[in-house]
Formats: sequence, structure tokens, C-alpha cells
Amino acid sequence: MRMAEQQSDPRDPRGLRADAPMLDAWLKFTSRSKAGELLPMCVPGHKQRQDLVGDVIAGDAPFYGGLDSIKHADSLRVDAERRAADLWGADWCRFSVAGSTHGNQALALAVGQPGQQVIINRTLHRSLLLGLVLAGLRPVWVRPELDASSGLPAGVAVSTVRAALAAHPDACGVFLGDPSYVGTISDLAGHAAAAHEAGVPLIVDAAWAAHLGFHPELPPHGIAAGADAVVTSAHKALPAYTQGALVLARTQRLKEARLDRAFDATHTTSPAGSIMASIDAARALLAADGEWLCGRLIRAVAAARQRLREVAGVDVLDGPGVEPTKLVVLLAGAGAHGIRVEADIIAAGMAVEMADRDTIVPIPVIADNEDQVSAFIEVLIAAIERHRGPPRRPVAAASWTVEPETVLAPRDAFFAQNETVPAAAAVGRVSAELIAPYPPGVPVLAPGELITAAAVEALRQVAADGGRIAYAADPSLQTFQVIARP
Ligand SMILES: Cc1ncc(COP(=O)(O)O)c(C=O)c1O
Repeated sequence: MRMAEQQSDPRDPRGLRADAPMLDAWLKFTSRSKAGELLPMCVPGHKQRQDLVGDVIAGDAPFYGGLDSIKHADSLRVDAERRAADLWGADWCRFSVAGSTHGNQALALAVGQPGQQVIINRTLHRSLLLGLVLAGLRPVWVRPELDASSGLPAGVAVSTVRAALAAHPDACGVFLGDPSYVGTISDLAGHAAAAHEAGVPLIVDAAWAAHLGFHPELPPHGIAAGADAVVTSAHKALPAYTQGALVLARTQRLKEARLDRAFDATHTTSPAGSIMASIDAARALLAADGEWLCGRLIRAVAAARQRLREVAGVDVLDGPGVEPTKLVVLLAGAGAHGIRVEADIIAAGMAVEMADRDTIVPIPVIADNEDQVSAFIEVLIAAIERHRGPPRRPVAAASWTVEPETVLAPRDAFFAQNETVPAAAAVGRVSAELIAPYPPGVPVLAPGELITAAAVEALRQVAADGGRIAYAADPSLQTFQVIARP
């Protein structure tokens, strides 16, 4: 087992560079830079000098002109991306330094023509909604099943997508976010079959799930399940730099040249070599030790779920419809307010990914060992005990229940003339802005959607509970941006 064979190089403790060309190039560049061998007359403007702004630029290396010369770096890129495509069984792969946000938008640009419809789940991340704006696609919303006891979304049923495809035979693709933000999974093989029978690609936003498919007890990843493209954040589930993401595709239904054009259209021309190299390194780590690391994570999360269930009133999402490494803690039965519990665990230096009144979502990943997860769980339990109260019924968050009425296509609404109106006057008007409680970043209002009293009230409830109202021009929700009347 590779884990046991610790290598002697402290800069590459697992000896990944032999199988990670970008990592190797980054290590060489930064060694030469540290040794004072370089006097770059190209960007970045810090010129590797830490006497100006200090450590903040340490390790930064441009991909073009750092990891390799500007003229040759593309062959390094193609080599590393080919290795990732092979690992996931894809035909095409690109590394992004702009997160799954960029990957989603690139795929929206790759799939159809402006004006065409796409079947898409409304519990999507805001990045994909803005992808619809960029690409001019028109959404046909499908919704996941809601779990009645927790108020959280389950997977999207294949029958729901089949019905949408049958009702919209001109749709150019199916986009699904899977696993959901809370780790619930759909039958992706069934969705792929449904999409392919309709002659369109299935595209999966798997932002949280770069580790799927790397252990027999984990669900297969989207490509293995038959999807035509998958977007995943290397920086979320894998040990990669913030912003690192992978876009993977099969090229039967999506064309390679168009995928490249769409990807490049929205990517920086100056990708950070450190981010690119960390994606390459994370891929090499998965290839070498993925099964062992995922096995450790599955055990850690199983133990955490069991321990949490021993706490009176606390429950966790579990079962065959939930991916085994996801930890979603349900607090309603213990009466503790998630945002107060979160404040305590932040104070203990253990920030979690999401907390709302009834739910806490920490993100254990393959970087965490069993002891670390278990130490966090004890701190979490102590915080829950401090805030314990009378049990209450969980309320399904606005992000999961929103049933929008789309009046204008997102792109038309985005570019339309708009005006600012007080909240009371906004009800019944068409939203010009996207407003999402963040996390999870699922829009409660999106450009082109009718503003309902229920949506305004749901957003106010999030704010009252201490949630962050993101992307609103007025996060206090006293005014809204609406499409101007002609
Ligand atoms: C489902 C989903 N897709 C895409 C994204 C965007 O990912 P990134 O932050 O890597 O751009 C997120 C972010 O949280 C997400 O939850």
C-alpha cells in the first residue's frame, strides 16, 4: 500500500510527482525560485519577491511561463488532463482554476443554442443558473423528492426527468446536481438512459463529489454511471487548492472542439500553476491511494453518524439514498438552534460548511482521519448540549421548497431594464436579480421569476434565523430589483 511507503522528500511526501507532471513542474519551478536562480521578466508582477508584500505570494507560480514556457505549457496541460480523463474514464478533461462555477458555465455554453430548453433541477447552484443566462438556455424545471421527516431534498426521480423530456422533445440536454448539497443521490444510470433515449446528453454538477467511484462502497461517479459530462470541485472533496475544479466529458454527444471553446471562453488566460498542479497532485493521490483514503473516510463518517444518533433528539441523514461520506446533522429533535451551535464550533476553530436553524453540514473529506472526525463530533455534541431546547418540527428550507414561476427566460430577464421597488410592491413583479441563501447557494429567486409573497417571506425567515442572503442588491430585503414595466 502506497500510504505506508512514505517518501523522503518533504515537498512531495507521497512521491506523487512521478505520476503528476504539473506537480513535478511546480516543484521544479518553486525550487529554482527559492534558490534565487530566476529573474523573471514576465508576470506575475510579484516576481517571486517576498520582500514586498510578504508570504502571501509564496508558492504562486504562473502556469504559462512558470510551470513551463508560455509556448510549451499546453503540452504539459494536455498530459496532466489526459491522465485525469483516463482515471475517470472520460474522453476529455480540463482543469479549471475558477471552481465548479466555471465548469457549470462552460458546460452550459457547450450544450445547445440560445433559446433552446434544458431539463434542469431547480435545486441547482446559482452558478448554473447564471450559466443559463450566458448560454441563453431556457429552463424546464424538475424537482427532487422532499424527505418529509427532515424537509431535505432526496434525489430527482428518473420518471420526473422522463416526463419532462417527453413534454419537451426539443430540449437539448439534462442538467442535474448530484449528489445534492445534502449528499442525497439520484439514479444517474437511469437518468443517463432516459437522456440518451431522448437523444440528449446528461450533464452532472457533482461539485461535492470528486471522491465518488473510488471505493466499492461509494456510488459510481457520473461518468461511470453513463453521464456525458461531470463538473467537480477538486478543492471541495480532494486536497487541492481553493478554486481547483475538473470538467470531464465523453465526446459522443458533446463535441470536443465546442467543449474546449466553451471552457476557454470563460476561463482566465493566466491560470495559477499552483492550483493546476494541486489538481494534478490530487488526481495522482486518488489514483494511488483513493480506495484506502475513501475507506478511511467511510469508516470515520459511519462512526460519527452512530455517535450522533446516541445523542437524545439528534439525527443524521442516512440510508441507501445518501452517499456514505456525507454528514448531515439534524438538530430539530434536540431543540438546538444550528446557527448558535455553529458559532460555538467556529469559536473552537472548527468551521463547518453550512448551518441553518435545523441542520449542520460539516464536510469530512479524505484529508481527515478517524480521530479528527471524532474530535470534531465531540465538540459538536458539547455545543448541541449547551444550546439544547424543546424539540421542534423541522422546517424545509426555502432553497428546497421553492416552486418558481418562470415568466421570462433567465437571459432576457438578466438584460432587461429594471428598477428598484419596496418589498411590498415587489410581490407580483418579475425578479431581475438572483437571490440565494448561501450556503447552499440555491436561488430562491432568479432572474425572470415571479416574486411571490411566499418567496419574500421565506427569504426573510432565512435572514431572521441568521442566514446569509447572497447576491441581493439589498440583503436587508427591504427593496427588490424587478423588471421595469414597459
Ligand atoms: C452544487 C454546487 N455546484 C457548484 C458550486 C460552485 O463550486 P465552486 O465554489 O467550486 O465554484 C457549488 C458551491 O458550493 C455547489 O454547491
